[in-house]
Amino acid sequence: MFVQAQTQRGPIGKNGMVVTAHPDASKIGLEILKKGGNAYDAAVAVQFALAVCYPAAGNIGGGGFMVYRHADGTIGALDYREKAPAKAHRDMYLDKGGKVIKNLSRYGHLAAGVPGAVDAMLKVHQRFGKLPFKEVIQPSIDLAARGVVLTDKEAQRLNKSRNAFFDHNTQPPYPLVRNDKTPFKKGDVTIYTDLAKTLERIRDKGRDGFYAGKTADLIVKEMKAGGGIISKEDLQNYSAVWRIPVAGTYKGYRIISMCPPSAGGIVLLQMLKMVEPYDLSKMGWQTPKTVQLMVEAERRSYADRAKYLGDSDFYPVPLHNLLDSAYLKQRMKDFSFDKAGSSTKTKEGKWGSHSEETTHFSIVDKAGNAVSITTTLNSGYGSYVMVSGAGFLLNNEMDDFSVKPGVPNIYGLVGNEANSIAPGKRMLSSMTPTIIEKNGKLKMVVGTPGGSTITTSVFQTILNVLEHNMTMQEAVNAPRFHHQWLPDEVFVENKALSQKTRQILRKLGYMIRPRSPIGRVEGILVLPQGKLEGGADRRGDDTALGY
Ligand code: DON
Repeated sequence: MFVQAQTQRGPIGKNGMVVTAHPDASKIGLEILKKGGNAYDAAVAVQFALAVCYPAAGNIGGGGFMVYRHADGTIGALDYREKAPAKAHRDMYLDKGGKVIKNLSRYGHLAAGVPGAVDAMLKVHQRFGKLPFKEVIQPSIDLAARGVVLTDKEAQRLNKSRNAFFDHNTQPPYPLVRNDKTPFKKGDVTIYTDLAKTLERIRDKGRDGFYAGKTADLIVKEMKAGGGIISKEDLQNYSAVWRIPVAGTYKGYRIISMCPPSAGGIVLLQMLKMVEPYDLSKMGWQTPKTVQLMVEAERRSYADRAKYLGDSDFYPVPLHNLLDSAYLKQRMKDFSFDKAGSSTKTKEGKWGSHSEETTHFSIVDKAGNAVSITTTLNSGYGSYVMVSGAGFLLNNEMDDFSVKPGVPNIYGLVGNEANSIAPGKRMLSSMTPTIIEKNGKLKMVVGTPGGSTITTSVFQTILNVLEHNMTMQEAVNAPRFHHQWLPDEVFVENKALSQKTRQILRKLGYMIRPRSPIGRVEGILVLPQGKLEGGADRRGDDTALGY
């Protein structure tokens, strides 16, 4: 059992808080706040900084989602998910016999969707930023030119990925590989000359510094060299979209999260509603009953996800049905504490005609504006493809589509028609950037990477604070578990669920499967006196900085 020796608080800030996956990105975000920038300026600065210091997931060649809450309570979201190129088609990853061609949607040039991060950051800055754009992007340009000091974790990650980088590139992707075989080690400095120049083009030309001109030429040249299909038109046509986040309540708290094309918000709200009738606080943290209840909610939500969720611009996602309280109550009707549920029996719900690398950052500024962003290349270093001459990696987000009905993606998730590939369509995501209010006031900002485990990690972190009275730091550190309908297994990380709990659950019929760490949650909690507590996940180099 995970026992905290004593209450452990993360860093406290009175005027602002930045929590990201990398110390350099947190520093850059904090500097922007201290200079008088708002949370939006800091968020833009952090997105570019992570593209430099955290190439496994930080990006300009990927996409993500932002959920925001202005200090005056206005909420909104920006969808900068990648899109399938115009030449993409439903069966593009199948052979003539209709079988999935191994790894084609996962690595290499064909795995990349049209990137959204740069357009999004320009839109965020244009609409909400206070400082000039040049001031916001410059620290990342300087960092790229000066070089990033590698952390031990990043050095190890690069060493492990060396072969994949050589396999999927037509040119060696310097500086992420070395010509001689000397391994990277902590303290080494990596200088990103080409990336610095790409960022300068974005600084000087805005959108045209990426989606047109030299950068676009380099992307298209890279595609041609490696058999990819992203064209100049795809780049020109890319546009991030302002959307209305999904929102719901949990025991008097208002939960605001991401709408499709992420499944995150809907699945999170469904799970919270399904467990709401129970007194989890009294039932206890990670006790057999609490775990069982949460797992059964997860099973039902993820079954709905596989059937009904996809890009709502292309597929009629039944959002209101899925979030209907009566429906969710009905969905738990067959739940019993006496035995494990079954994913063979539990399919998606019905109603009548009425109806492992992404990164998250959380920022709150002095005025109380809050930004929750999850951004990704999909798996670590994305497609591994670096755009030669432009110095950045392309995503492998195409694998988040259902490449064939019922065939699991990298995270074991299955999907259907709702998430099939079509030109210009956005692939379904699990990303769950979330903001919580209590009595009309900001309470928490939270999110995480972790593929399919993202939504259940956010679910647990929220309950850790709201039900189990943990601090932000404790809530993000606490060991986690996960169930996603299929496979019908409860995944547990080290120290999650005591041996006794595991034993009891096994007896009830649950399959318990130990696995590697789950998620890297970054959260900010507003304390009773209005101070901010940052919680940076102990699982990585994550850093919370406040002032
Ligand atoms: O959008 C999604 O759900 C995935 N592409 C996220 C990938 C991810 O979190 C990988 N990190 N561990």
